[in-house]
Amino acid sequence: MKPRRQQALLLWLLLSSCVLTEAIEPISTTVAAVSAATALAAFIANWKNSECCQPAWISFNMTGLQADLDKKLFGQHIASRIISNAVSGFMSKNNPNKPLVLSLHGGTGTGKNFICKLIAENIYKEGMQSNFVHMFSTTVHFPHQSHLLQYRSQLQQWIKGNITNCERSMFIFDEMDQMHPGLIDCITPYLDYHEKLDGVSYRKAIFIFLSNAGGDSIAQTALEFWKTGQSREEIKLKDLETVLSSSVFNNEQSGFFKSSLIDQSLVDFFVPLLPLEYKHVVQCAMAEMMARNMTPVKHVAEMVAKDLNYYPKQERVFSDRGCKTVESRLDYYL
Ligand SMILES: Nc1ncnc2c1ncn2[C@@H]1O[C@H](COP(=O)(O)OP(=O)(O)OP(=O)(O)O)[C@@H](O)[C@H]1O
Ligand SMILES: [Mg+2]
Repeated sequence: MKPRRQQALLLWLLLSSCVLTEAIEPISTTVAAVSAATALAAFIANWKNSECCQPAWISFNMTGLQADLDKKLFGQHIASRIISNAVSGFMSKNNPNKPLVLSLHGGTGTGKNFICKLIAENIYKEGMQSNFVHMFSTTVHFPHQSHLLQYRSQLQQWIKGNITNCERSMFIFDEMDQMHPGLIDCITPYLDYHEKLDGVSYRKAIFIFLSNAGGDSIAQTALEFWKTGQSREEIKLKDLETVLSSSVFNNEQSGFFKSSLIDQSLVDFFVPLLPLEYKHVVQCAMAEMMARNMTPVKHVAEMVAKDLNYYPKQERVFSDRGCKTVESRLDYYL
């Protein structure tokens, strides 16, 4: 190939809409060292394997998400329904009028991060490893209260930069209950009904907040249902949603204390995660054995579940760590 044509092709590749940040760097250094033809071949191979903000890498599998929620997520009938409907409705719109904003609440080990994984796996070919899925953890990314101003501007820049790179980005904010009150408000404009802000449209993005805040009131409601002999499946979203949003709004330790996000109704769904029971922990242990390509053994799963702590102490109804320690504990029983 003539040098001119090679350059033109390279330029065309550079201008295409793939994520080239990773692919460009090795190439720009090798081009000087090796022949143009070799570099070009390497570039094309690299480019082909690089994740792009395009349907080959991002495409929503509605039936896949539904099936995963049905089969893999245990004991969360309310969350399962909301997630399935909200994500499917949102992803089927070509031009949604605002980003999808979900706030997941529940005790430890009830499946908040697990749900994010299921969503990511059914949108992005690379799942949670995708360059378009961004996870913020309060204790890692925003640990110092005194750096609030700096965090606010970083957070805005991260979001703007990543959405400029790919409109179909997903942002997960873990440990919201540890977040300094006031920090999250800096992203309020991005979650609103704007066509564009400074030339960038945020409407196709998904924002998910994860938090233990409100977990106690959810558990309280679940316990009341249990005490009055009503089945868990009878608990409805309306039994929890209002108490959840107001308890989160009025709780200084929720990350959403007096937040404009809630005030302006920008959170589409508050998703309650119910505390898990013994039978769900057994299911988690069985699933974990299958994930390890083992034949699941019921009495092993039961041993794992039996040795966990449950509350209330006397009745032992709900696992106090959900399924969180099942994976590591299983090693001990096998
Ligand atoms: N409802 C569930 N159904 C199936 N598996 C679950 C469920 N909840 C938890 N698990 C299992 O337990 C592991 C830990 O759960 P996860 O990390 O989602 O908890 P979490 O709600 O984010 O807890 P934390 O508040 O401590 O962060 C998951 O990876 C999954 O294997
Ligand atoms: Mg978690």
